[in-house]
Amino acid sequence: MSDAQYFRNFTRVDSVEKTAQGLSAELHGERLRVDVVRADVVRFAISRGGVFDEYPSHAVCVDPLAAAVPFTVEETTGDDGRVVRLRTSGLVVTVGMAPFRLDVHRPDGSPVAVGADGAYAILNDAFVIRRRCRGADAIYGLGEKTGPLNRRGRDYSLWNVDVLDPRASGEFAAARAQTDPRADPTSTEFDPYYVSIPFFYHLDAASGTMAGSFVDNPYRARYDFSGPEQYSIRFDGGQYVEYVFAGPRMPDILAAYTWLTGRIAIPPVWSLGYQQCRWFAYRQADVEALAHRHRQEQIPCDGLWLDIEHMDGYRVFTWDPQRFPDPAAMLSRLADAGYRLVTIVDPGIKHDPGYRVFDEAVEADLLCRTEGGGVFVGQVWPGDTAFPDFTLPETRTWWGQLTAEQVRSGVSGIWNDMNEPATGAIDPQAMLFGRGRHSHARFHNQYALLMAMATVEGMRTAAPDRRPFVLSRAGSPGIQRYAANWMGDNLSRWDHLAMSMPMAAGLGLSGQAFVGADVGGFMGDTNPELFLRWMQYGVLTPFCRNHSAIQHVDQYAWSFGPVMANLVREAVRLRYRLIPYLYAAFVEASRTGAPVQRPLVFDHQDDPLARDVDDEYLFGPDLLVAPVLAAGMTDRRVYLPAGTWVDWYDGTVLSGPGFVTAATPMDRIPLYARGGAVIPMWPHAPEHADGYQPRSTELHVVVPAGDGTHTSVLVEDDGTTIAAEGGAVRRTVFTLTRTGRVVTVHARTSGDGYPEFVREAFVLVIRGAHPHEVRVDGVDHRVTGARVRFTNHGGDFDATFTV
Ligand code: GLC
Repeated sequence: MSDAQYFRNFTRVDSVEKTAQGLSAELHGERLRVDVVRADVVRFAISRGGVFDEYPSHAVCVDPLAAAVPFTVEETTGDDGRVVRLRTSGLVVTVGMAPFRLDVHRPDGSPVAVGADGAYAILNDAFVIRRRCRGADAIYGLGEKTGPLNRRGRDYSLWNVDVLDPRASGEFAAARAQTDPRADPTSTEFDPYYVSIPFFYHLDAASGTMAGSFVDNPYRARYDFSGPEQYSIRFDGGQYVEYVFAGPRMPDILAAYTWLTGRIAIPPVWSLGYQQCRWFAYRQADVEALAHRHRQEQIPCDGLWLDIEHMDGYRVFTWDPQRFPDPAAMLSRLADAGYRLVTIVDPGIKHDPGYRVFDEAVEADLLCRTEGGGVFVGQVWPGDTAFPDFTLPETRTWWGQLTAEQVRSGVSGIWNDMNEPATGAIDPQAMLFGRGRHSHARFHNQYALLMAMATVEGMRTAAPDRRPFVLSRAGSPGIQRYAANWMGDNLSRWDHLAMSMPMAAGLGLSGQAFVGADVGGFMGDTNPELFLRWMQYGVLTPFCRNHSAIQHVDQYAWSFGPVMANLVREAVRLRYRLIPYLYAAFVEASRTGAPVQRPLVFDHQDDPLARDVDDEYLFGPDLLVAPVLAAGMTDRRVYLPAGTWVDWYDGTVLSGPGFVTAATPMDRIPLYARGGAVIPMWPHAPEHADGYQPRSTELHVVVPAGDGTHTSVLVEDDGTTIAAEGGAVRRTVFTLTRTGRVVTVHARTSGDGYPEFVREAFVLVIRGAHPHEVRVDGVDHRVTGARVRFTNHGGDFDATFTV
C-alpha cells in the first residue's frame, strides 16, 4: 500500500444527533451513520460528497433496519474529551468527538472493533480502516482463499480472477517477489482467487471472543492482516458501509451474516450424489455409454456434466449438431436411467451476427459497452466475445428466458464458468455497465452473482416446483442464495488436495456451504493413488464432482483397474449411505448458515489447538474426517477435540482433546463419529439418490463415554420439489441423553409428510458400546449384533438401553 501515507484521516466530529435507528454525526462535511441492526450487529456508513449511495446491494437481501431494537445514547466528557455512547444489550458503540474515534465493545468491555492510528481515512475514491489486532489473535473467513484457514499474518486482495490465465492473474503474481510462492498461480498460496467475500472473523486471543466484519462493497479491496498490532482494510472505490458483529460465538456471527446476505436454498438431492464431469469432446453416444458404464460398474452416480465442447462453436445455448444429433432423445434416455444432465453456460456470447443469442442481445441493447458506446469485446472460447450486462433487470429476464428453454429441453442443472468475468487476452476494465454509466470496477466482483440471479430466475420459470441447481466458479456475498461454488481449476497434486480443506472451510465460514473441489484434480495427469485418496476424501465434501481438463489421462471411477475401482466404489457407496445425514446438514445450513464442511474452530472455539487445524475438518456436525495427504502414507496424526470419538471402521472409542495416530490402509481414510450423535444412513447405496425413498433407515447411535445430551436431525422429503418448503416434509429431531449407564433417545417429529414416503422401520445401530435391555416405546427388543429393528412410519419414539 505505497500510497498509505497520503490518506487523510478523519480526526474530528462536529456534531452528533440521535436518530430513530442510532446516530448521525457530522464528520469533515460528510455524514457518519450508526444504525442498530440487531442487539449484536451495528452498521456504520460514511457518505461521499454528502450523499449516501442507495443503489441496491445485491449482497444484502433483507431490510437490515426493519426491526426496532432498543438502544440508549449517553454523552460524557472525560479525559478523552466528549464521547457519545450507544448501547444495546449486546454491544456498546463509542463515538469520540475530538479526536474522532469509532469503536465497538461488548457490554463486558471485551473488544469487538477498536480503531488503530488513522482508523478511518480516505484518498480520492479509496478508503482505509485500521483496527487493533494482536499477534496471537486469529482471523478467519474472507471466502475462497489459499493458504492456512487462519488469515493472521498475511495480506489478501479481493478481485475475482481466472487464476490459471496469466493475463488475468499476472498483475498479482508480478506484485510478489519471485521467491514468494504467491508469485505462482499454480501454488497453494496464490491470491486472489475466483470468489471475493469481504467478511471475516477476528478472534481476540486474550478473551477467546470473536467479532465479525462485513464491508458491503463490491470494489477491489485489500485486507492486510500482517501488521504486528493492527489490521487494515482498503477499498479502491465505493462507499464505506460496514456491518460489525459482536458475536462472541462464531456460529452466531455466521447466522447473523447469512441472515443479511441469505442462506443456501435446500438443494435437490441429486446434486448431493456423485457427479461425473470432464472437459472432453464427447459425442452423444459416449455420454450414454458413460451412463451405462457407471451402472454396470455399480458406481452410484446422479449427475453427468457437459463442458464447452458440447456447443456449436462455443456458442452458448446451442448443441454441436454433429456430436449431438438428437439431444432430446439422449436426455430422455438418461432420465430413464436415473441421470440428471448439467451443461456449462459461460457468460461470454460469441460476437457473431446471425447467431440468435448475439442478435437478440444487440437488438435489445443488453450487452456491456465501452466508454465510446460500442459493444465491449473480449477473447474467450469462441474468439471475439461479448458480455451480457447482468446489472440490467431486462438482461437478467432475457437470460432467464434462454435458461428456461434449456431447462425445458431436459437439462437439470446449469454450470456457470468464466464469470469473474474472464476476458482472456483483453483487459476487462473497458467493460462498462448500465449502458455505459457504471465503471467496470463497480460490478466486476458482482458479475457472477448477477448472472446466477438471472440463471435461477430462468430455472424457476421453466420448472416452478423444482429446486434449481446452479454451479458457479466466481462469486461475491450472496452467491450462496443462488449457486454452489466449486473451487476452480486445481492441479492434480497432493498439495492441491490439501489446500482444498482450508479453502472449503473459508467459504463455509463465509456463508457458502455448498462447495467442492475438482475431485481427482483438474490440470495435469492424476495418478491411481492420488485419485483414490481424493475420491475417498471428496465423497465426504458437500459437492462431490470428478472433473479433469482436456488432454489428460482418463480419471473415471474405473480407470485405474479393478482393484482401484473396488476401493473407489466403496468410497462412493459410503457417500450415498450417508446422504440422509448430509441432507440434514444442508437443511441446517439453509436455516442457520452453519457450514457443511466446517473447520474444528467452528464448534470448538475455546480450544486453542482446534484453531489452526487445516488438515482435517468436520463433515456436518458429527463426523470428523482426516484425509490422506501424501503418497505412500500408512498412518497420520489426527487431532480430536473434546468429547468421545468413535472410530468409524473398528468402533474404537477415543476421547479428546488429544492427538491420535490413525492407520491409513488403502481402503479408507480416518473418520470418526462424535459421541452423542444419531447419524441417519440409508441401509444400502442406491444407484442414484434422485427419487430414492428407503423402506428403512439406519440410525447410528454413537454412545458418548460420559453423561450429556446431544441433538441430531433427520429430514425426509421428496428430494426434488419445493413442496418441502410448504411443509411436505418429515423432520425428526433426536435427543440422545446418557446418564450413568442409561442411554435414551427421544425422537420428536414435525411436518406434514409427503406422498412418496414409504419408510416403515428404523434400525438402531449402536456404536461405541454394547447395548443391553433395549426398549422402544416400552417394549423390549432383541439386539442382534448391536442392531435393533423396529417399526416406525414417521412418528415419535422413545428408546432406552443400558451400556
Ligand atoms: C475453465 C473451468 C473448467 C472447464 C474449462 C473449460 O477452466 O474452470 O472447469 O473445464 O474452463 O470449459
